[in-house]
Order: sequence, then C-alpha cells, then structure tokens
Amino acid sequence: MPYVAADERYDRMVYNRCGRSGLLLPAISLGLWQNFGHDRPLETSRAILRRAFDLGITHFDLANNYGPPYGSAEENFGKLFADDFRPYRDELVISTKAGYDMWPGPYGDLGSRKYLLASLDQSLRRMGLDYVDIFYSHRADPDTPLEETMGALDTAVRQGKALYAGISSYSAERTREAHAILRDLGTPLLIHQPSYSLLNRWIEDGLLDALGELGVGCICFSPLAQGMLTSKYLGGIPAGSRASRNESFSPDLLTEETVEKLRGLNEIAEARGQSLAQLALAWVLRDARITSALLGASSVEQLQANVAALDRLELGEEELAEIERYATDGAINIWARSSAT
Ligand SMILES: NC(=O)c1ccc[n+]([C@@H]2O[C@H](COP(=O)([O-])OP(=O)(O)OC[C@H]3O[C@@H](n4cnc5c(N)ncnc54)[C@H](OP(=O)(O)O)[C@@H]3O)[C@@H](O)[C@H]2O)c1
Repeated sequence: MPYVAADERYDRMVYNRCGRSGLLLPAISLGLWQNFGHDRPLETSRAILRRAFDLGITHFDLANNYGPPYGSAEENFGKLFADDFRPYRDELVISTKAGYDMWPGPYGDLGSRKYLLASLDQSLRRMGLDYVDIFYSHRADPDTPLEETMGALDTAVRQGKALYAGISSYSAERTREAHAILRDLGTPLLIHQPSYSLLNRWIEDGLLDALGELGVGCICFSPLAQGMLTSKYLGGIPAGSRASRNESFSPDLLTEETVEKLRGLNEIAEARGQSLAQLALAWVLRDARITSALLGASSVEQLQANVAALDRLELGEEELAEIERYATDGAINIWARSSAT
C-alpha cells in the first residue's frame, strides 16, 4: 500500500526552537543507529518510520556507520525514503554524521576534511538525497586542527549538500572554539548532539551552559540509556533486548545497585501515571535549553508508548527532588564523560 501521511500528524507533537536559529525540531526525534540495518526486517523499519512521521516526528537522525553493516541504515532509509517519504521531503529534517571508523585506510575515520567531505557524498548516494539538513562532525579529533574539521562542515553547507552544521560529543571548551570558528566562516553552529539521561549527566558540568549562552541547540542521544530507563530490565534481561545481545550495551551495567535506582525511578513514574521511559523523557526535556530527545525504538509499540510522554511533561519541585535521590552521573553508563573530547 502506498503510504499517505496522517492528516493529524502535527496535532500533538511539541516543536522546540533549535538554539537561536530559525529551525524548529520535534521534542522527540528518532535515531536509526540500531534497528534499521540489514540485520533487521525492512518492513519493521518501515513501520517504525511511518508511525514516527504520523506522530509528528519530523526529524530522523543517521550516521555513515549505522547498521550493521556500516552504511546499511542509510541504504535502508534511502529505500524507504524513495517508497514512502519523497513527497514529504520538505517536511523532514534528516541528519547524518562522519567521525567514527567507516572505511579502511587513513581517510575513513576521525576529523580530516578528506574524510568528512568524501563521507558526506557517500551518505547522500546511499540515501538518494540531494542534501541533508544537518551534517555533523561525529566526534572531536584531537589530532586534526579544529579549523580543518569546521572548514569541512562550512564547505558542505556552501556546496548545498547540508543546510546546517552540527557537532557531537564535543567538550564545552571545544564547543566554544568550534562555535567561534564557524561564526567567523559565516556558517553558524546549529546544534550539539551529546549523550544525556537520568543515568548520565555530564552535560550539566559546563556544556549545557555553553550551549545556552552561545544559542546552540542541544539534541540528547540515548535519553533512555539504551533501554535501561524503561521497565524492561527491572526483573532480569529479556531475550532479544539490547542488553541480551551484548554488543553496544553490556549486561554488566545492570548491577543490583543500578536496578535498585531504576526501581525507585519506576515508582515515581507510576505515581505520575507514567512509564519509566516516559518519565525519563520528560526529565530530559525539563530544561528549556534541550531542543529534542533523540531516542531509538525496535518496535512501533515502543515508539508510540514513548511519544505519549508528551501528555505529561511538567515536573514539580517535589518530584524533581525525589528523582535526584536516584539519578546518577556517568560512571555506570557507556556514554560517559570520556567520550567528550
Ligand atoms: N552522536 C552519537 O555519538 C550517538 C551515539 C549513540 C546514539 N546516537 C543517536 O541517538 C539515537 C538513539 O540512541 P539509542 O537507541 O541508544 O536511544 P535510547 O532511546 O536510549 O534506547 C533505545 C532502545 O531502548 C529500548 N526501548 C526504547 N523504548 C522502549 C520501551 N518503551 N520499552 C522497552 N524498551 C524500549 C529499545 O531497545 P531493545 O528493544 O532493542 O532492547 C530501543 O532500541 C541513535 O539512533 C542515534 O541516532 C548518537
């Protein structure tokens, strides 16, 4: 059946301004890091993307190496875009990135101009797009001059292959430097994509203040800590879950101490009439400097349940104080401070 987007797709979603730019992003965005590679049935990926757009999720986030194998999430997205979403291109914000290991040899990793611009061309070909909305430097590269990496983002924008420039997992200090370089080049830094969740709060130590001050948007990845901040691990590790696959998420993170914290948070969520996942999303979005929570979903049901967090976003002082008793920083999360260079 050809896809026709739901007429009511803009009725419930909240759209937030991205920093001091003209671009609005949905409060909840969908990432294609996992669940969209050649290892998953294309029809499941299709159903998730269709439902997301019908729920007002106008932003899909990719990277060159999402899969597995590398590149396959972009390839599958390209197929689904051609089948379903081409008529809606101007209603979508599609992002991709380069910065991690992608192809063999010295030009397929990190932050050189050579890698970033070649990778963007490959991403556009895989997705069948003329341009992406946001092109990111996926991580800081301490051995490449920041001027070179930011210069590549500026070139991508000037070539019309990206509309906006972004950075991911950069420290506060390097973010300030990147912002200044891009400003001088005439291409503003639109957005930063850091990890952030109830279990991983490194951005509260300087980065969030910098973004607020500079007027740069903030889209937080893994707001559910890869699924830890859902009720699924409260009674063990279910078969088929991300922890059970032990690839990007080690089951060792689910210590008794952590699960106790999750139980405490789950009780707060239940008292609000929410799921733990919905509370985790509301909590990430409580700060006006956060533009969007960038989540993943392995099923339509998960996605729908998560988006229903929008029905109850407000958190009172007492609830926030209670949450503080259980929310922790970095140490137990794989996306800890060390990823920010
Ligand atoms: N810039 C970067 O370096 C970077 C790094 C990582 C991610 N990202 C971006 O952030 C996006 C999201 O990352 P993420 O997938 O780690 O986010 P996440 O939202 O923290 O975790 C998503 C996973 O949690 C589980 N889940 C979600 N909702 C659930 C529910 N209601 N009940 C039970 N389980 C549920 C699912 O895993 P299972 O069902 O498989 O268990 C799902 O795939 C990525 O796709 C990517 O776009 C960026």
